[in-house]
Amino acid sequence: MQKDPEGPVPISYIHVFHKEYPRFKKVDLPTIDYSDSEFETALDYRESTRSFSDDPLKLEHLSKVLQTCRIVDPNRNPERRTYPSGGARFPVELYVICYNVENLPRGVYHYNIRNRNLEVLLEKDLNTRRRELISEYLDNPAASIFLTTVLPRSEIKYGHKGYTYSFIEAGHIGQNMQIACVELGIGCCSVSGFVDDTVSELLDLVEDEFPIYSICIGNR
Ligand SMILES: Cc1cc2nc3c(=O)[nH]c(=O)nc-3n(C[C@H](O)[C@H](O)[C@H](O)COP(=O)(O)O)c2cc1C
Repeated sequence: MQKDPEGPVPISYIHVFHKEYPRFKKVDLPTIDYSDSEFETALDYRESTRSFSDDPLKLEHLSKVLQTCRIVDPNRNPERRTYPSGGARFPVELYVICYNVENLPRGVYHYNIRNRNLEVLLEKDLNTRRRELISEYLDNPAASIFLTTVLPRSEIKYGHKGYTYSFIEAGHIGQNMQIACVELGIGCCSVSGFVDDTVSELLDLVEDEFPIYSICIGNR
């Protein structure tokens, strides 16, 4: 049956389930005092922001979020990064679409993880394409960080599981970025509701590289 997009949200979309085994024995876990740890506090404060202010995002803040993805030890074999990757194949690449960042022209950039800089792919105001890039649920983010997978990097070792491993890697990267945003006091929201073809076109992706995830960030 076709769903009415304007109709009421089905209860099955709202109710959150979790499993329980009421009749089974339990093992109590030690009580933890989360207030002692900045990391745990940051986890507690993580949430999605969908409405962003007109305040331009500081370039330094964009840089800090991107650099949660970095090579820590290039001399280790395989190199050590801040996030795990299935078989150290590192299929995920990062791009930025800038809408409103201080001292960064609007446009499309590739984040070069080795040099920790942005490579300019397209200098263009893409505000009119926001709906295709950030979904209809978000209002006014300052930048979208797109995560793509160069699938053959992983497929050559893991076959069709390369796709799954790319998603897992993207999830690790996304969580690091979300926690960095809490620490910086800026808003962020994971987005998968973008138009894949539009993103592929604007990022100038060639075959075998696909957009899989994005993190929108900005001041609240
Ligand atoms: C894979 C993934 C895709 C998501 N895509 C979207 C999206 O397209 N639009 C959106 O508004 N939120 C999106 N979200 C955010 C979720 O809606 C949000 O995490 C969830 O409602 C829980 O809210 P919280 O993050 O504030 O705890 C996505 C989250 C994940 C993990």
